[in-house]
Amino acid sequence: PKAAFVAELLSKMTLDEKIGQLNLPTAGDITTGEAKSSNVAKKVAAGQVGSLFNLGSVTKIKEFQRIAVEQSRMKIPLLFGMDVIHGYRTTFPIPLGLSCTWDMALIERSARIAAQEASADGLNWTFSPMVDISRDPRWGRVSEGSGEDPYLGSQVARAMVKGYQGDDLSKNNTILSCIKHFALYGAVEAGRDYNTVDMSKVRMYNDYFPPYKAGIDAGAGTVMASFNEIDGVPASGNKWLLTDVLRNQWGFKGFVVSDYTGINEMVEHGVGDLQTVSALSLNAGLEMDMVGEGFLTTLKKSLQEGKVTQQQIDTAVTLILNAKYDLGLFQDPYKYCDEARSKTEVYTQSNRNEARKIAAQSLVLLKNDAAISGKVGEGILPLKKSGTIAVIGPLGNSNENMAGTWSVASKQENSISLLTGIKAAVGNNAKVLYAKGSNLDDDAALEEKATMFGKTLHRDTRTKTELIAEALKIARQSDVIVAALGESAEFSGECSSRTNLEIPQAQKELLQELLKTGKPVVLVLFNGRPLVLNQEKETVPAILDVWFPGSEAGLAIADVLFGDENPSGKLTATFPRSVGQIPIYYASKNTGRPLGNKEGKFEKFRSNYIDERNEPLFPFGFGLSYTTFEYSNVKTSATKITFDEKLKVSVDIKNTGNYDGKEVVQLYIRDLVGSITRPIKELKGFQKIALKKGETKTATFEISLEDLKFYNADLKYIAEAGTFEVFIGKDAQTTNKTSFELVN
Ligand code: IFM
Repeated sequence: PKAAFVAELLSKMTLDEKIGQLNLPTAGDITTGEAKSSNVAKKVAAGQVGSLFNLGSVTKIKEFQRIAVEQSRMKIPLLFGMDVIHGYRTTFPIPLGLSCTWDMALIERSARIAAQEASADGLNWTFSPMVDISRDPRWGRVSEGSGEDPYLGSQVARAMVKGYQGDDLSKNNTILSCIKHFALYGAVEAGRDYNTVDMSKVRMYNDYFPPYKAGIDAGAGTVMASFNEIDGVPASGNKWLLTDVLRNQWGFKGFVVSDYTGINEMVEHGVGDLQTVSALSLNAGLEMDMVGEGFLTTLKKSLQEGKVTQQQIDTAVTLILNAKYDLGLFQDPYKYCDEARSKTEVYTQSNRNEARKIAAQSLVLLKNDAAISGKVGEGILPLKKSGTIAVIGPLGNSNENMAGTWSVASKQENSISLLTGIKAAVGNNAKVLYAKGSNLDDDAALEEKATMFGKTLHRDTRTKTELIAEALKIARQSDVIVAALGESAEFSGECSSRTNLEIPQAQKELLQELLKTGKPVVLVLFNGRPLVLNQEKETVPAILDVWFPGSEAGLAIADVLFGDENPSGKLTATFPRSVGQIPIYYASKNTGRPLGNKEGKFEKFRSNYIDERNEPLFPFGFGLSYTTFEYSNVKTSATKITFDEKLKVSVDIKNTGNYDGKEVVQLYIRDLVGSITRPIKELKGFQKIALKKGETKTATFEISLEDLKFYNADLKYIAEAGTFEVFIGKDAQTTNKTSFELVN
């Protein structure tokens, strides 16, 4: 019935109406710093709009839908999209933080709640998940993805698509998802946003494509083309990418939307004028034009001149109408416009409670030593809910920054600050003092750049000395100092590339002053990317990386600080020692001249630096707990398997510390010899297991042929016979290993 219904509709449409369906203007209601498209209502009535995005309320959405279905000749309902990236009104941790939970059920749940809330507010399409692999934390958008690893990234992509779309897209609480940014956007040169990407096909297929493909395999209804070029052709006009790979190799059946003016930007890329680039996009396999109106203004001419075909336009319209059909919009265009739902299903206490739980799982404990002795295992965390606690730092009493970047529907001012969270946790049992201590940075201009998208800049006009003096005064009166430092929400995110990855200097200085008081200091680190933390790792006894935890931030952080939740997050992106090490990632190649010593000492004519070690500061997969875990007894079910057999690998994990806790057990393989060089480790399995104090559990993994496959030099997806090492442990640096043979 869908095909017949859509074909019938198509047969009645004029060329202008067809081209109108390919047009996606923005209402500009939501504060993204983007301009509103012009005359939107008039265009909708004239049949010149297929979808709209960034409308801020169910009432407005209903009104635009009414114009579409009552005033336009074809009465075709609109799609309504928005960047619902990590939650809607109830906001979850930024995606990089969310990925650090390594808990796919929780990640799916966050997307489910986001879809529930967004659909209750009239939306039926989200521009998420962002699944770009990135190994370059200079790039601000690492905050929006799941880190550096294709295996983990693929699992997250799947979970998010399932969460948004559910198993029935036609329900009124499921929405279309969008895999973005296709493709390779995370590999922009020098980490500078929108920059050129140039990459071998082998690397694309093995390391960067898997999460996009996983999202497509999970049934994502739409894909967004990226801003960058690939092999010299911008993604928005890249036929190899959008047709050969996406449709022919991967079987994608939905529609492709451009990024914001992505088609027009090909003029700046230097591949032609607006008519040329618009035709290039349609020919490449891109169906919907976001904001730029290149399709709207030039496709008719291109058809008359034979630069595009009627068939291409019809196919594009069909794919968009299919999506509307799948959502059930032809049956009921107002099915997502239920004001009652909007009032009762958005930002509910139960959604917020879940967000708090999820946020607590995303926090990564980077260090927890005793305040004075430096002994591991006797860390200053968890804190006691007694005495006097000083909360110090520009991020300590800031609700606007808690939700992080791309949280357009979040009411920033409602987010729970760290100070509020700590006060709520301790009640009358402890005294809580606060001082700002410093601005985000001494450089006001830099701070200004990091406060886009409507986030308020509360720059303190007092001098640096005055700010520090106030902080030291309360620090000296306290038993413990919680230093809330790092990046503001927009220090990372779109167009927030950095060349210096340290905590901004003003805050570093404040921290060192606080340490000089001799009081125990916990650094609560806010960040949208891996940072360079050498000095902090060296000098601060405890570091809790909280990313941007979302609307319930302060409560979730307090849960972990006071031990109501035991931290269990693990890094999904490597933390470098220096910007000079970037790109840095665990799944590197051995090279022909690997270092011969484990201590990382310099060796002449070996692959290393004269001024820095090769190792990262914190490896992929790293994260501490208030308890400790011991791994033993790595076993395999066989020493040899054939191509049809599976191998079982098991390991015993014992909770040897003083708290119940959760551990993310990670399994990596190494393919020792290949027809192309293979990474020194590749994640191929993980399990998050809960262990009571003193408890031992066995984690068992199954390795199948699929886990041993890779794309070879001919881009064939194959496994090759030979020896594989298997590593199981707590992070990517684990040396716990065994091996097996894959035999013909
Ligand atoms: O979805 C986003 C994309 O990630 C960046 N450019 C704008 C789009 C729509 O807001």
